[in-house]
Amino acid sequence: MSQPLLTLDFLDKAAAPEHAPGDAVHVSAATRTGRPRSLYIESYGCQMNFSDSEIVSSILYDEGFDLTEDLATADLVLLNTCSIREKAEQTVRMRLKQINSHKKRRPGMLVGVLGCMAERLKSKFLEEEKIVDLVVGPDAYRDLPLLISQVDGGQKGVNVLLSREETYADITPVRLNSNGVSAFISIMRGCDNMCSFCVVPFTRGRERSRDAHSILREASDLVAAGYKEVTLLGQNVDSYKWTSADGAEFVNFAQLLESVALINPALRVRFSTSHPKDITDEVLHTIARHENICKYIHLPAQSGNSRVLSLMNRTYDRPWYEDRVRKIREILGADCAISTDMIAGFCSETEAEHEDTKSLMEFVRYDMAYQFFYSERPGTLAARKLADDIPLETKKRRLQELIDLQQLHSAERNQRGVGQVHKVLVENFSKRSKEHLSGRNSQNQVVIFPKQNFVKGDYVDVLVHSSSASTLLGEAVA
Ligand code: SAH
Ligand code: SF4
Ligand code: F3S
Repeated sequence: MSQPLLTLDFLDKAAAPEHAPGDAVHVSAATRTGRPRSLYIESYGCQMNFSDSEIVSSILYDEGFDLTEDLATADLVLLNTCSIREKAEQTVRMRLKQINSHKKRRPGMLVGVLGCMAERLKSKFLEEEKIVDLVVGPDAYRDLPLLISQVDGGQKGVNVLLSREETYADITPVRLNSNGVSAFISIMRGCDNMCSFCVVPFTRGRERSRDAHSILREASDLVAAGYKEVTLLGQNVDSYKWTSADGAEFVNFAQLLESVALINPALRVRFSTSHPKDITDEVLHTIARHENICKYIHLPAQSGNSRVLSLMNRTYDRPWYEDRVRKIREILGADCAISTDMIAGFCSETEAEHEDTKSLMEFVRYDMAYQFFYSERPGTLAARKLADDIPLETKKRRLQELIDLQQLHSAERNQRGVGQVHKVLVENFSKRSKEHLSGRNSQNQVVIFPKQNFVKGDYVDVLVHSSSASTLLGEAVA
């Protein structure tokens, strides 16, 4: 086994927290600051946004804000928003209408919009949505206390400056809605890829990698607090690269992954998202070397046709993508799950090109897929250069075909799991019954089984006897 690249000397110093994992930390704002105020925060979009909300909560907690799950009584309501498709933005607009009715009852309530929609619309938001007091982009969360005091003074608060350096490396996130078992760790921010359909480079700015030591420290602290799984997050984790200020240390993604895996063999390590152009054999060999790095790769293809991929500016073609899949199977075996994102009805996509996406799905037989129809986003390369010329009904029909095909493949995959023993990390009770526990196997499949004496955070070997559309059902084996 190779040596960890980064020293873990801070591990001894990681103090065990006084509260049990998953317990909400409660210190009254009044005791801390004399300003008893409460914060309600809601997140939309990708895992990065959910992770950012934990950073925002931490910044405001230090400012004396209590966290509340009750919107009706909150003093500050924040929506951390997503712009990826038009529908995502509509959802937020609808939610603002509902929040308006609360604000009418309690005019002192402050309403803020964070995240990608804040960055995209900037101060236009204040004109379009009169109830909004604060508009804060993803790189400006440290400014929230100041902006809130501006709003307290009767002004509106806006900061949508993007940064080339901000990674919030020193902020310890407040683990919101955590099950005390698994947690997200942001390892990078932004994206430099400029896929023609995508709004993310505009809303999240330039790609930057977080200090590797701060990532390892966060993972070690989570282990000390009883967590059993971390997910390393970035739009394109394979292009993670960090150099220390003195230039003496350089860390790429494979090395970071290995260092996190070596913290503790009982800590499961996941990561998302992998870009097909960047995922290296070194990363695949690293996954193969460590049992605790999950055998699951989210490798969005977007399309199965090389001409469409080129219009999308994905910088790989179909043979390249197929080659990456072959390498995954060669190095990690059939045991490694692969999932994808697919876009149906991108600009000028023909029926034959749509069929190519289906044939790629047949080639890979994905374990899971997130599928969407193309939604033009203002300001993107595609919006400026390409006609959004596929009729909505056609987009929807093509999307449905992809969904139907994936359902077959997912069912097939689940069926393969029957009769096998899966190592499951227990995360919670099953949604349907307190007599059953729910967890995931290394391949990210949900497994449900009778609880006996097991509790969340346990690793349990489960013999699967049947499967439903999305889950495996089984029983613990001794
Ligand atoms: N960084 C990741 C994707 C992040 S966005 C990657 O490169 O794979 C998540 C998914 O939303 C994308 O993979 C894509 O499938 C989808 N998406 C992004 N922009 C879209 C748009 N304009 N219309 C429809 N789907 C879109
Ligand atoms: Fe968007 Fe492409 Fe960046 Fe993913 S890699 S966030 S799809 S621009
Ligand atoms: Fe949405 Fe922004 Fe994530 S647009 S998908 S919340 S990076």
